[in-house]
Amino acid sequence: MKAYEIRDGFGLDHLLLSERPAPTPGPGEVVVRVRATSLNYRDLLTVTGHYNPKQKLPLVPCSDAAGEVVAVGGGVSSVAVGDRVMTLFAPYWQAGAPTRQRLRNTLGGPLDGTLAERILLPAEGVVPLPPHLSYEAAATLPCAALTAWSALVTHGGVTAGDTVLVQGTGGVSIFALQIGLLLGARVIVTSKSDAKLERAKELGAWRTINYRRTPQWGVETRRLTGGRGVDHVVEVGGAGTLEQSLQAIRFGGTISVIGVLAGVAGELSIIPILMQHVRLQGILVGHREGCEAMCRAFDAHRLEPVIDRVFPFDEAPDALRYLAGGEHFGKIVVRGPADD
Ligand SMILES: NC(=O)c1ccc[n+]([C@@H]2O[C@H](COP(=O)([O-])OP(=O)(O)OC[C@H]3O[C@@H](n4cnc5c(N)ncnc54)[C@H](OP(=O)(O)O)[C@@H]3O)[C@@H](O)[C@H]2O)c1
Repeated sequence: MKAYEIRDGFGLDHLLLSERPAPTPGPGEVVVRVRATSLNYRDLLTVTGHYNPKQKLPLVPCSDAAGEVVAVGGGVSSVAVGDRVMTLFAPYWQAGAPTRQRLRNTLGGPLDGTLAERILLPAEGVVPLPPHLSYEAAATLPCAALTAWSALVTHGGVTAGDTVLVQGTGGVSIFALQIGLLLGARVIVTSKSDAKLERAKELGAWRTINYRRTPQWGVETRRLTGGRGVDHVVEVGGAGTLEQSLQAIRFGGTISVIGVLAGVAGELSIIPILMQHVRLQGILVGHREGCEAMCRAFDAHRLEPVIDRVFPFDEAPDALRYLAGGEHFGKIVVRGPADD
């Protein structure tokens, strides 16, 4: 079967299309024929060696896939051949608090990931698709959507009447916009691009801010909210944006610390955190229970993920280059090889 492998070193030039033996399921396992994969920023960091430079190679990258179950091993009763399923980023984290054990094995590093024709998974590592979604749409959910759900719902407690700020218009942030609206919140979106902000407005954003033109966007957020600040910030920038997030947040508000797009380290005064009772909540994707709740909500609201572009399997490296360029709005999808 076809699979992409990071081989002989890191870098997009080392992402090579290979032939691997097709997997067969052992007890408790299933094989899924991948119909679509979606890309996350982490996949780019993994391929370029910035996520885990000690990662053993070869590795099949990517964590997200949707497809159909084509074989099940002994003792599997939760899914059957023909079921439409998607992956879980952390297949052994079913519910409850994260532990080192539950987070040790994640797809696309250290475990082989989803940029392949068929993938072998524990049966508890797949979740049925919301029925209204195509494979391409459902492939966008496992990492970005669940991360946004965990931030706003599982740990955030966002509710109708709240105001949420999302940074940029990538995969996690556009899902956070959609989920925020679904919960009845007002959502402020930032972006470097006015054209993207127009699209965010069309999706239902309450207010928008161009963070290039308005580098003090946290101060602007406070102005837009009548001096109060927002209830929740979806922090995908990291070290380079946290200071403005602390300007944007209300007393007692929550900042979901998710991403590192603007750096992993920097100088920061902790005074506003303690003086304003701000909660910084680290998020690492989420568990199966959260994923199932999210799928029920998406089904009930017929929520459609925003897909920027779909690439054929043979052009997966170009899809990652496109992600690196940061021109996308929402998610980038790569079709499974059988569907090209
Ligand atoms: N902790 C977790 O569980 C988890 C899960 C998923 C992702 N992440 C992390 O979250 C981040 C976003 O991931 P993703 O997959 O959604 O990425 P993505 O789709 O590649 O999003 C990139 C977009 O983020 C925006 N951006 C870049 N720099 C920015 C900045 N300084 N301020 C505000 N926005 C900025 C840009 O949007 P505009 O063009 O609109 O400006 C850019 O197009 C990454 O760091 C990723 O590693 C973490």
